[in-house]
Order: sequence, then C-alpha cells, then structure tokens
Amino acid sequence: MSQDAPSRKDLTAVKGTRDILPEEVGAWRAVEALARETFERYGYRELRAPVIEPTELYEKSSGQTSDIVTKEMYTFIDKGGRSVTLRPEYTPSVVRAVIEHRLDLQPQPMRYFYMGPMFRYDKPQKGRYRQFHQIDVEVFGEKDPAIDAEIIEMVDAFLAALRVPDTEILVNSVGDRKCRPAYGRALREAALNRLADLCPDCQRKAETNPLRIFDCKVESCREAARSFPSILDYLCDECRDHFQKFLGYLDLFRIPYRVDPRLVRGLDYYTKTTFEIVSGRLGAQNSLVGGGRYDDMMKDFGGPDICATGFAMGMERLLSVVDLGLPKRPFLYLAYLGQEAKRAGLEMARAFRRGGVECLVEFKDRGMKAHFARANKLEAAWVLTVGEDELRRGRYGLKEMAGGRQVEGTPEELLAAILVR
Ligand code: HAM
Repeated sequence: MSQDAPSRKDLTAVKGTRDILPEEVGAWRAVEALARETFERYGYRELRAPVIEPTELYEKSSGQTSDIVTKEMYTFIDKGGRSVTLRPEYTPSVVRAVIEHRLDLQPQPMRYFYMGPMFRYDKPQKGRYRQFHQIDVEVFGEKDPAIDAEIIEMVDAFLAALRVPDTEILVNSVGDRKCRPAYGRALREAALNRLADLCPDCQRKAETNPLRIFDCKVESCREAARSFPSILDYLCDECRDHFQKFLGYLDLFRIPYRVDPRLVRGLDYYTKTTFEIVSGRLGAQNSLVGGGRYDDMMKDFGGPDICATGFAMGMERLLSVVDLGLPKRPFLYLAYLGQEAKRAGLEMARAFRRGGVECLVEFKDRGMKAHFARANKLEAAWVLTVGEDELRRGRYGLKEMAGGRQVEGTPEELLAAILVR
C-alpha cells in the first residue's frame, strides 16, 4: 500500500449521510410508488429540479434569519466563481422553475410533487441527517382555503394507507404582511421582557425576528415562549376568515387536528396557514410532515403575484415508523449440471426473464444437491433443473419450493405454469 492510500477510516460516508442498502430499498420504492399513485389521483404532476441552486434563491425565500439559511446551508463557490447551494428544501426550486418556464401561463391551480435528497448542515441525531429525503407537494394559484385542507386530507390519506401510527395534526395561522408587523411588535416586547430567560441565540432573535424564538428547543426559551402573546389574537379579518374556513374544510373531511398558536415553522416565507404532522413514535425529531401557505414568494422573486401552498415529509422519519411487511419477490433459481446444461439453462433463463420472471443464475460449478441447498438458503420460489436427462428429453423440471410441488415440461409450458400463479 502506498503511503498516500486512504485508510479504511477515511473511507466512510460523510457524517450525517447514509447508504440505503438493498434490503431497505424495497420499502423506499413502495412508499415512493404509493406517494406517486396517491398524489396523481389528486391531479398532481411530478416536477424534478436540480440539486444545486444559486445561493441567493434561499436567502430571498427561506429567510435571512432562519436557522436553515444562517447556519445549515451547504454553500460553496463553484469553478465559475458563483455561489451555489445544495438545496436545503425544495419549495424555492419549484417557485424558480415556475417563473423560469412560465408555468404560470398554464391553467391554475398548478399541482406539483417531487421526491429527492435535501441537504442541511445540522447536528446529526436520530431522525436528523445532513442528507435526507423529502416527498414534497406544492400548489400554485389557489387562494381558496379549501386547498390548504385538501393537501392535508391528501397526506392524511397517504399516511393512513401506510398505517402510520400515533400521529397528530397541528395547525395554525401566522397571518400575513398586513397583520404580522403588529404581532411582531407585541412579541418583541414580550421577548425583551423575558430576555434573561432566553438563550444567547434567542436573545439575538428577540431583536431580529422574534417569531423564530418559537423554533428554539431550549427548555427555558420554550417556557418563556409559552407566556408570549398568541398570533391568533392579532390576525386581520382576511387571515382570520381564511383560517376559520380552512378549519371548516378540515371538519368537513372529518380530519382531527389541534390548533397550536406557537406553530410558526422554521422558515420565513409562510403566510396564513401553517401545519405539521407529528408522530409520538419519532422521539425528539417528531415532525413527520411540515407545510403551509406562502403567498408572497413568487412575487418576491420578481415573478407573477401567484399564491402558493404545500408541504414536505421526511422519508427517513416516515420509514422509521412504518412497518410495511413487504413480501419477498418470488424468483427462480437455475440448477444446471455440466457445460451443455449450462448453455441450455442460460437460454431458458433469457426467455423466462423476457417473459417477466425473475431468474437467478450463479456460475459456480455445483452438484444438484448443492444447487438445491443454495436455492433453499436464498429462499428461491422455484428451482428449474437442467441435467443431461432433461436435455435429452427436451423436458425440464420445475420445483415449487414452498409446497414441494414438482412439474415437468417444455420451457414454454414451465413459463406458463409460473405465470398462472
Ligand atoms: P421542513 O419542516 O423544514 O419544511 O421539512 C419538512 C420535513 O422534512 C420535516 O417534517 C421532516 O420530516 C423532514 N426533515 C427536515 N429536516 C430533516 C433532517 N435534517 N433530517 C431528516 N428529516 C428532515 C420544508 O422543508 C418546507 N419546504 C415544507 C413546505 C413545502 N412548505 C411549503 N411547501
């Protein structure tokens, strides 16, 4: 080994990232397929945007004072001297794509979904990664509060189909640019009165953006925040009306929820509705789904004045609380004896695969007994036997491993026998 060769210790995944191994991928694919199928039933279409974006995109949207922008972004200067960022969330990318491709010229509302990796340089812990995956849903051009309820009803249906245990839906309104300034002033005053109880970070937030104090997990800050005024007492008529109607639609859908006036969410762009779905099974990082309305982002980006609402859900957290009980995919194991049988077996495997049957062919020389032992260990559904005798007769053996049933036939007959099962 040369002196510069990396040691084994260096060759591990970057802290806070993880490999998704083959035995886990089945669950990922099942959840992704269910999400696609569910969201498409509600009229959503998939939109895929790049993983890197101009840094400015997040500074303008997620917020100059949010933890995501101030502390957690993977930002670097590329070889062309531009500041780019690995996306910490998906929402700003969709807004950029809508403006860039003039998707706003299409009939509204436009409904999009996406699934893929996001990157946040946060302290890794259970349920919190530096590379994690979101399923994200965004709707543009619908101001009716019914849409805020519809996306919750949709994600509720999705979580119910996965039998996600122990969930609670929390809802709130954070007002808009008309009513939030008065609330901001009241909040600042309350925060300054409790300054001694706040952590240094929140003491700074008391001046810059007191709403963000609600994101803090430090117990003394949470305790102080409980004494702060409620945003719901400061909503303007328009925001109050939106919130009441939104709750009315949730009632219509018979969705249980709890109003939580401290639910402001860790991003600066929300207006009116915010919501979160938490799970009692998740531990400290208990938020499974988070979202809300963000009516100003599009116009703040210099695009058309189009309102928006949406949510994102964390795949890792979701998968940690569901038990899919996925059945193993049935496959056929090819047991051959000798070179001629190997060649005939390979041709048959080719035909079976093209016919839709998963076949496993191993190239290690084995006797028939060893082949069957191996097929058993791998939990093959069927074993196809090709030996000298079978070659001579042009008829081959197929054993169904679970029931022990054996049939004999031509390759076509055996393929048909598998396909009718
Ligand atoms: P968020 O609350 O920052 O919202 O993230 C949404 C979900 O992503 C969380 O509820 C959680 O399940 C998952 N998540 C977030 N950070 C991590 C992490 N470090 N490790 C593992 N999972 C994580 C947003 O991202 C908004 N863009 C949601 C939205 C869409 N609002 C409107 N449209």
